[in-house]
Amino acid sequence: MDDRRSELKKIIMDTKTLPTLPGVINRLNALSNDERSSVQEMARIVSTDQVLSARILRLANSPSYGFYRVSTISNAMILLGVNVVKSLALSSSIFEIMEKNSVGLWEHSLGTATAANIIAKKLSLPEVEEIATAGLLHDIGKVIISLKCAEQIREIRRMVQQDNMYISDAERKVLDTDHAEVGGWLAKSWYLPDKLSEPIACHHNVAASEDHRIKTSVVHLADVLVKASGFGHSGDHFVLPVQPLAWETLKMDEKLLGEIVLDLEDKLVEVKNFSIEMQGSNDAEA
Ligand SMILES: [Fe+2]
Ligand SMILES: [Fe+2]
Repeated sequence: MDDRRSELKKIIMDTKTLPTLPGVINRLNALSNDERSSVQEMARIVSTDQVLSARILRLANSPSYGFYRVSTISNAMILLGVNVVKSLALSSSIFEIMEKNSVGLWEHSLGTATAANIIAKKLSLPEVEEIATAGLLHDIGKVIISLKCAEQIREIRRMVQQDNMYISDAERKVLDTDHAEVGGWLAKSWYLPDKLSEPIACHHNVAASEDHRIKTSVVHLADVLVKASGFGHSGDHFVLPVQPLAWETLKMDEKLLGEIVLDLEDKLVEVKNFSIEMQGSNDAEA
């Protein structure tokens, strides 16, 4: 068991690139060719893709850029410059045609970022952009697992479908770790700040978070709300309830939650339209 886990950890620590959605790359490319577009506009597009965001944050936090700790996409882009971001986006597997699963997970990630943003604003929390970024990246471990463990992922999916297991439980059975821990390793190996890596690593176990429990609780709640809304596809076929500790940490009540859910429903319609647009440009590309 232990061998399998440390072997996987080594593979993950060595991972330098992950595939991203071509529609996002096309849009970014068009923006960067237009002199009137701003870093903020590009940052907005980058912030819709969990994989590209992870890659940009990784580079901005790498020792070659000094030891800044950058936790927002806009700051990372200002630090790196538009050209670096563009070449980073283009150097990724542009023509990779994502399988249906990836589109579902991308929508789930984008939905969770949207929900995390709404919750953080509603609670007047500081660092809203960081919280939304942590929401965007929370399931990045799933991307790397499906990329690096092709054989095991089939077994995990079979267990989820046929044995009605929760994806994290199936991952732990097959890999002796789960996507949250794997995402945490990845974030650490890319020198992302703890305020991002901790919510990623602890989004299914809020009690395990120590320094960033509020951010972790927001990401956990956002993940559950997006699953419950039926938006996107996280890989799970059922939704576990919100952990009481997250509820207490955020001092959440029914009324507040009702307002958040209403806002989220509205916003998810926009996110869905954006997703359809992005997939349309994927088709054009293919
Ligand atoms: Fe997850
Ligand atoms: Fe999730």
